[in-house]
Amino acid sequence: MKRVTAEWVVVSDETAIVSCETGDFWFLDLKGYGDLLPFTHPMTGNGTRRSTAGLLNGAVVLGFANKGGVTPSAISLPKYVLDIIGSFHITRRTPGHFAQAAKRLRELNRPDIASYLETHGREETGHDRLVLKDLRALGLPAERIVENFIPDGMQPLCELFDNLCAADYPIGCVGFCYCFESTAAMKRKPEVDALEALCPKGVHASRFLRTHSGLGSELSHVEEMIDFVASLPASDRIEITKATFETAMSMANRLRRDGGMSDAAILAKIQAAAGQEIDFAA
Ligand SMILES: [Fe+2]
Ligand SMILES: [Fe+2]
Repeated sequence: MKRVTAEWVVVSDETAIVSCETGDFWFLDLKGYGDLLPFTHPMTGNGTRRSTAGLLNGAVVLGFANKGGVTPSAISLPKYVLDIIGSFHITRRTPGHFAQAAKRLRELNRPDIASYLETHGREETGHDRLVLKDLRALGLPAERIVENFIPDGMQPLCELFDNLCAADYPIGCVGFCYCFESTAAMKRKPEVDALEALCPKGVHASRFLRTHSGLGSELSHVEEMIDFVASLPASDRIEITKATFETAMSMANRLRRDGGMSDAAILAKIQAAAGQEIDFAA
């Protein structure tokens, strides 16, 4: 009889994510079962490519569904600019944070994870400059804006990234990264085109967006990450899934908080950071 691989992780007191080799996943309410269900005990088996993908994708979906989910807000140029300013602050951190986590993991005799993070950190190097170029293309004083302004909803995500990478056992940074990259890879051509169309005619301010979408390198980064996570011991896959879930909840909070701002309020914040009047329509 064929053996079927299942993976599971309890991400909160009462909810387990369960996935199987088809890549499908389910959320299981553990309330009322005591420890009768096998899923209340940590998994110990090996991962497979698709069951691990199911676990990670389940963590993203469950995190975004928390607190009633996220209602998408209408797109606008100020919102787009706010979004890439926020992304700058994560992207700027990535190479240094991954190097820090890799150093710690080498000390802990985990060269497999360390070298993955070192490689991935190199691949992400310079992506913050794509945001600066985009802001400049829009006629904005890019360096001054990012120096003076972290969007409110992005601040907790920056702190989460800082904490995961500085942890005694910093494996959670892989889950953080998975959440960012997999949600970026979901942006396909119609969405990218619609955001590009917000920019004034002849202005190319979508370098960061294109790279961090299903049209750029993110799809291959996500595929590589799934293979890598699937190869790790169960205890690591558990921690990575929990960090993915936590990151997804924080990303959803960011969308509620920053996505709920009016264009006028966003413009005021960017103007204050820039120290000058800004006219997006120019
Ligand atoms: Fe990147
Ligand atoms: Fe990436």
